[in-house]
Amino acid sequence: MWRRSANGYLILLLSHLAVHCLLITYSTACSNGNCQLLDSCALAGDCGAALYCGNCPELGKTQPFCIRGQAIEPTSLISGLPFNKYTWLVTHNAFSIVNAPLLSGPQRITFYNQEDIVTNQLRNGVRGLMLDMYDFENDIWLCHSFRGQCYNFTAFEPAINTLKEVESFLSANPTEIVTIIIEDYVHSPKGLTRVFADAGLDKYWFPVSKMPRKGDDWPTVNDMVKKNHRLLVFTSDSSKEAAEGIAYQWRYMVENEPGDPGVVPGSCNSRKESKPLNSRSASLFLMNYFPTVAVQNGACKEHSTNLVDTVGACYKAAGNMMPNYVAVNFYMRSDGGGVFDVLDQMNGQTLCGCPMVTACQAGVHFGVCRNVTAANAAPTATNTAGMFSGSVQLTGHASAIHFSIILYLFSLSSVMMLFLL
Ligand SMILES: *[C@@H]1O[C@H](CO)[C@@H](O)[C@H](O)[C@H]1NC(C)=O
Ligand SMILES: *[C@@H]1O[C@H](CO)[C@@H](O)[C@H](O)[C@H]1NC(C)=O
Repeated sequence: MWRRSANGYLILLLSHLAVHCLLITYSTACSNGNCQLLDSCALAGDCGAALYCGNCPELGKTQPFCIRGQAIEPTSLISGLPFNKYTWLVTHNAFSIVNAPLLSGPQRITFYNQEDIVTNQLRNGVRGLMLDMYDFENDIWLCHSFRGQCYNFTAFEPAINTLKEVESFLSANPTEIVTIIIEDYVHSPKGLTRVFADAGLDKYWFPVSKMPRKGDDWPTVNDMVKKNHRLLVFTSDSSKEAAEGIAYQWRYMVENEPGDPGVVPGSCNSRKESKPLNSRSASLFLMNYFPTVAVQNGACKEHSTNLVDTVGACYKAAGNMMPNYVAVNFYMRSDGGGVFDVLDQMNGQTLCGCPMVTACQAGVHFGVCRNVTAANAAPTATNTAGMFSGSVQLTGHASAIHFSIILYLFSLSSVMMLFLL
């Protein structure tokens, strides 16, 4: 929704009035799924496929408009390349969802990073999930917590719930590949092995023994699909690789610094756990792109030109290596094309030497591009991952309340810093 709660009833009233004016003024313009990218809209159903009706007051937009909400699967245009040639969308703290049901008590006190369920994230083209896993209540839970300990007020849900969503998606979409990156606080022996098996995910497991270690190419996506090696799992706990066959992230991946230094245009420094970005000893590059404090309404601004600048800085910092993953908060928020457009540019450049992935064509020389006009640039039939479900509403109202409670509770304490990753 475009509505914001900050100034209470007056704003609400004004925005209702604005909507009524819009309905009257633009009743002949577009509606019922006919509105195109950036067209003014009033109702959730006004915008066409892969779009939703949102807003971005932070960039001075005063009325709602159609915003892109779905990725193009690069493999649907250029298939058969090594996995590490593609760029995928990753949700930072995919489970830390605004309005997630309270399963562990009356209250949750934490920051939120996303606003739709993981199933919808996957349907909209997210192919990587960052999940924080903890021992909790004799089980493994997803928590947005601190000091390696999950509490009732930082818990979201048993990890198996989310892992089952991933299983349903992989089972329903037999050519899709998903990556899970675990911030791992699980100490129960074989705990992760068990929860992945219980969720039915072991059958998709990409074996750690087959992961390239010296910066070589990964197998092709076709090969991974054929072998059903469609789930990549990385852990932050080095002991799990020998103990449970779960890949230790920092052996296979480089990452830039997350948080505020990461969203400064032109800056892309390697994260302290990571080898240098240009070391070429890891074949995957995850680009973190989210501010230290996640704010829903600010995300549309971050996902505009600053993102393009940061991709450029990261590409250079890694010695002309394109990030394979772009990790963001509130991935659907933008001033138009957002993260999705940037991914199209990244994949276009790497996969076929074209400005956009939609300009790629199979079976021609690198750099031979289709003439992409506005009419055929829209993400439509090529996406096999399902339509934008329409069930995602951007709930700025609820989160604004949560956020002020958190600020209140933590403003006196540096504990705040501990919640951020
Ligand atoms: C904490 O959460 C667990 C798991 O849902 C629940 O069994 C327990 O009763 C909760 N404790 C409190 C004090 O709410
Ligand atoms: C691309 O297509 C558009 C619309 O069909 C056309 O006007 C334009 O001249 C084309 N450009 C090139 C470089 O072929």
